[in-house]
Amino acid sequence: MTVLIRPYAPGDFDVICTWFPDEASAVQWGGPDVRYPLDPAQFAAMQQETEGDTPGRWMFTGVAGEAVAAHAQVVLDWRHGIGRLARVAVSPAFRGKGLALPFLRQVVGRVFEQAAMERLELYVYTFNAAAIATYRRLGFVEEGVRRSSVKVGAERWDTAIFALLREESDARALNAGAPSR
Ligand SMILES: CC(C)(COP(=O)(O)OP(=O)(O)OC[C@H]1O[C@@H](n2cnc3c(N)ncnc32)[C@H](O)[C@@H]1OP(=O)(O)O)[C@@H](O)C(=O)NCCC(=O)NCCS
Repeated sequence: MTVLIRPYAPGDFDVICTWFPDEASAVQWGGPDVRYPLDPAQFAAMQQETEGDTPGRWMFTGVAGEAVAAHAQVVLDWRHGIGRLARVAVSPAFRGKGLALPFLRQVVGRVFEQAAMERLELYVYTFNAAAIATYRRLGFVEEGVRRSSVKVGAERWDTAIFALLREESDARALNAGAPSR
């Protein structure tokens, strides 16, 4: 299945907000700072950060055919050349079809297209097997775990940090025999 990325548009919210039926699924996706239920104002505030020559955030929508099928964001630290991949999701209707990898390859490519960017990191809850499998396939390396770092209802979750360095991303592109950026 082909997936193409484009910048997030406000109308995408109506689709994306249906992907998270409860607080736990929203936090699994968006981290501890996300407010549930999701509302357009939260997305509008994020989108404001995408403006300017050195934005603090990028927001991407993955489109399969006509459908809004995936979403991801990158939080950008231009001073230190660090991106943080965040708020990655594939629509429940499109999960398990191998869409996450080609979608995120394009997002990772956008990051390392920027000469300033040397490191792309991310946080993921340790139980999130589908996400972790996807990130490892992209070449992300686990760097550690923040144990008991988030409270969701009566549960506490552990957060793993993964990262991919520019040279590792280059090496993977060479090994695959195809440019990733
Ligand atoms: C994480 C997510 C984006 C992955 O997308 P997906 O469409 O389900 O994944 P894909 O079909 O592309 O498969 C990606 C990998 O995950 C594996 N995988 C998929 N579902 C899995 C599951 N339930 N358990 C374990 N592994 C799984 C696949 O086998 C594949 O690994 P492989 O290439 O080594 O075989 C998607 O599950 C999602 O949106 N989850 C909810 C939001 C979320 O948790 N986001 C991550 C925040 S850090």
